[in-house]
Amino acid sequence: MAEETGNKSAADFGIGVPQKNELYELKGANNYDWGMKDRLSRVFNPKSGKTVMLAFDHGYIMGPTSGLERIDLTLRPLLEHADCLMCTRGVLRSLVPPTLNKPISLRTSAGSTVLTELNEECLGVEIEDAIRLNASMMAVMCAVGNKRFEGLTVRNLCKSIEMGNRYGIPTLGVNAVGKELTRDARYLALAARVVAENGAQVVKTYFCSEGFEQVTASCPVPIVIAGGKKVPELDALKVARAAIDQGAKGVDMGRNIFQADDPVAMIQAVRHVVHDNAKPEDAFQMYNDLKTS
Ligand code: R5P
Repeated sequence: MAEETGNKSAADFGIGVPQKNELYELKGANNYDWGMKDRLSRVFNPKSGKTVMLAFDHGYIMGPTSGLERIDLTLRPLLEHADCLMCTRGVLRSLVPPTLNKPISLRTSAGSTVLTELNEECLGVEIEDAIRLNASMMAVMCAVGNKRFEGLTVRNLCKSIEMGNRYGIPTLGVNAVGKELTRDARYLALAARVVAENGAQVVKTYFCSEGFEQVTASCPVPIVIAGGKKVPELDALKVARAAIDQGAKGVDMGRNIFQADDPVAMIQAVRHVVHDNAKPEDAFQMYNDLKTS
């Protein structure tokens, strides 16, 4: 306990120097509370304003996906290169070392698999468990336009946002695009906007080759793009470049990283595009230089 007497006198009051209010730069986030901003600052690099999230939550709907059969063996070397890890609580507790000290985007919606009816989800993780796991974000699927599950998944999203706001944990609204829907700018802009209007602090959606800047421009919060199915490495880097150039604040990429010929080289190449503004060709060169044959 501090002593009451004999202390050095306070004298350095900076009289005449106005106290600065620092602007919180992340899109749409200036009016959030401190805890929410602190968590978002762990996800989005405050210098570049961007993020490379590594998504490896696929098992919750797909089981042991190619590249994720043994997360301890194949994913472990990648984790240190990611800005944020997106996974389920099962994998987090069993396979991700807490000593890594990485922000977690915790998959909290659950309820169906590729074997049955995708999108029939609930909130499978209570907010208390997200807090226990020190989640920096909660990821909730939202199937805008799905005739059966739109209402259900929008309600899940709203519940997560409600609970997250109570405790200062942002919600990542994950746009699920069913086979019956077209991944064009018109649909993606509508779906992203619905998720943001309901209060999601970050939106995850897909890139589209035409008009993607309309999707990001009309979404008041940051958008991160999903990588989608595996394509050649250079093509994936081109998609990341185009998405960032058109306003995305990062990637939440899975298969195009962990299914690459050399996943550790690939995540570093993706970082080069997202954080260093590298051209895809230069990042691909970096990939080939780092690649261990
Ligand atoms: C789907 O199961 C998850 O939300 C994935 O995190 C998401 O699809 C991103 O992974 P990918 O880049 O493989 O599409």
